[in-house]
Amino acid sequence: MRILVAGGAGYIGSVTVEHLIEDGHEIVVIDNLSRGHEKAVHPAAKLHKIDLADLPAIDSVFKQYEFDGVMHFCASSLVGESVVKPLEYYSNNICGGLNLVNAMVTNGVGNLVFSSTAAIFGEPESQPITEDAPHVPLNPYGRTKLCFEHLLRDVEAAHGLKSTCLRYFNAAGATTQRGEDHRPETHLIPLIMDAARGKRESISVFGDDYPTVDGTCVRDYIHVSDLAQAHILAITHLVNNPAAAGDAFNLGNGMGFSVRDVINSVQNVTGFTVTAMVAPRRAGDPAVLVASSDKIRNALGWNPNYANLDSIVESAWHWVQKNPDGYKNS
Ligand code: UFG
Repeated sequence: MRILVAGGAGYIGSVTVEHLIEDGHEIVVIDNLSRGHEKAVHPAAKLHKIDLADLPAIDSVFKQYEFDGVMHFCASSLVGESVVKPLEYYSNNICGGLNLVNAMVTNGVGNLVFSSTAAIFGEPESQPITEDAPHVPLNPYGRTKLCFEHLLRDVEAAHGLKSTCLRYFNAAGATTQRGEDHRPETHLIPLIMDAARGKRESISVFGDDYPTVDGTCVRDYIHVSDLAQAHILAITHLVNNPAAAGDAFNLGNGMGFSVRDVINSVQNVTGFTVTAMVAPRRAGDPAVLVASSDKIRNALGWNPNYANLDSIVESAWHWVQKNPDGYKNS
C-alpha cells in the first residue's frame, strides 16, 4: 500500500512508519517538525515538511501521489497544556485535521486511521473502559479529539470517507531504532528514567490521595509497537474491505499500574534507585484509566506482544541508553 502518514516524525507516528516500511509499504510523511524530529523519520519514507494549517501544500502532496490510505497522528496532545492553551488545541487538532480530511475528500482518497485518546472518556465510573462508556472528556484536549471523531462520522455519512478511530491509553516503550523524545518531556516513564540516570534529582508523584490501592493514579501502559500494529491492522482492514464501516477501538493492555508501580518497575529494570517526592495533584488527571481492548482483539485480531510493564520499560531503557540525548538537535 502507499500510505500518507501525517505526523510521521512524532513518537507514535515514527514508530508506525518504521513498522509499515518493514512490512513493505511505501510511505510519505507530512510533518511540520514542531514537536517531531527529522531523524525519527525512517530514511525510506519521503518527508515533506508541511503544516496542516497549509491546505494548498497538503493538496499538492495528494496531487503528487496516489494514496491507498492516510494515518493521522498530528496533534497537540498534553492534557495540562490544553487547559491553558485551548485555542492552540482547537486550531491544531480540529482545523488542521479538517484540512487533511478536506484534501482527502477533494482528491478522492478514502481510508483514514485517526489517533484518538482515552481522554475522551473523562473519569469513567467503571473499569476496564469499553468503547461505549460515556464520552465526557474533562479537558480541551479530550474534547478536541471527541469532536474530531464526530466530524469523521459526519464526513463518512456524506462523502463515504471511511475512518477508524484508535483511542490510545498510555503509549510507552521504544523499538531499537526509535523512542520517546518530547521537548519538554512531561510523560511519566521517561521522567522516571531521567531520575534513574541522574539527569534529574527526583520524580514528582502528582497526588497520593486518589481512590486507588496506593493513592497514586493508575494508567494502562501500552507499547508503541503494539499501537503501530493496531494501525496497520486497521488500515489494511479498511483498504481490503470497501464495505467496512467506520469504527472506534480502545487500545490498552487491560492492566492498570499506579505511579508507584511504574517507579518500582523502572528501579527493577535499571537497577538504580529513584527518589520520589509527593507533589500536588495535576489538573485534569482522572484517578484510573484502564482499557478493555476486547473489541479490537475480536474484530481485527490485534494481539499485543508486550503484555507486562517491565518489558515495556526495558525497551524504553535500552533506547535511552543508546540515545542519551534523544534525537539531539533534529
Ligand atoms: N505523573 C506523575 N509525575 C510526573 C508525570 C506524570 O505523577 O512527573 C503521573 C500523572 O499525574 C498521571 C500518570 O503519571 O497520573 C501518567 O502521566 P503521563 O503524563 O505520562 O500521561 P497521561 O496519563 O497524562 O496522558 C497520556 C497522554 C495523553 C492521553 C492519556 C490517555 O499524554 O495524550 O495518556 O490515558 F490522553
